[in-house]
Amino acid sequence: MKLVVLTGAGISAESGLRTFRGHDGLWENEPIEAVATPEGYYRDKKRVRDFYNGLRKGLPQYEPNAAHVALAKLGDQLGDDFLLVTQNVDDLHERAGSKRVLHMHGELNQLRCEKHENHVFPFTGEEDETTRCPLCGASTRPHIVWFGEIPLYMDSIENALNHCEHFVYIGTSSVVYPAAGFKRIAHAHGAHVTCLNLEVDSDDSFTDTFVEGKASDIVPVWCQNFNTF
Ligand code: APR
Repeated sequence: MKLVVLTGAGISAESGLRTFRGHDGLWENEPIEAVATPEGYYRDKKRVRDFYNGLRKGLPQYEPNAAHVALAKLGDQLGDDFLLVTQNVDDLHERAGSKRVLHMHGELNQLRCEKHENHVFPFTGEEDETTRCPLCGASTRPHIVWFGEIPLYMDSIENALNHCEHFVYIGTSSVVYPAAGFKRIAHAHGAHVTCLNLEVDSDDSFTDTFVEGKASDIVPVWCQNFNTF
């Protein structure tokens, strides 16, 4: 595996989507424990469904930016030598043309069955207590990985990190595990680790190269030159 890419909310910021922790970030206005934990969900399902309904409804108004497009092109060039992992639940990578994206924190445009966690299906409407799993008829929940839940695709991601030559993390504050630990894993296996972000990473001990700037400026340039690092 040549390259593993991890993206976070910062790559979608210039498309107009709010990040989580920045100024006016989502978590400044919504209590995490209420809308991003299983406990919050079982306490008030309507509140949680409505929160994600709102985010889902807003998605079509945002367009992918040059950073999403550059990664889609690079993915086409590298084929199986490339893995795109995102913490984002938006669909901007797919709309930019990326064909295989591992959404480790789930996707807004999908729902999951409350009875069978492998019953996952596309959904673009408003979820409520009457929404049913098309496979078994049980009730549903947002297909979002909340705090305290295990992120998706971890085996494939760890396997890729153990064998990649380059690991780059883009537009993520690197505070939420396990994603925040990917740079350490890749570094330990000899990969060149690069951070692309507006601001310096608070823990850069595993980072070989840091490029500062807006994702839409620096990601396209990096994608053209990453082989030279
Ligand atoms: N270009 C590049 N980086 C940017 C830009 C930009 N235009 N705008 C913001 N950033 C950077 C910020 O500097 C910050 O480091 O994006 C990062 C956004 O950090 P967070 O809001 O913490 O988002 P993220 O790292 O994706 O959050 C991780 O936390 O609550 C959870 O599940 C949620 O997936 C999310 C996870």
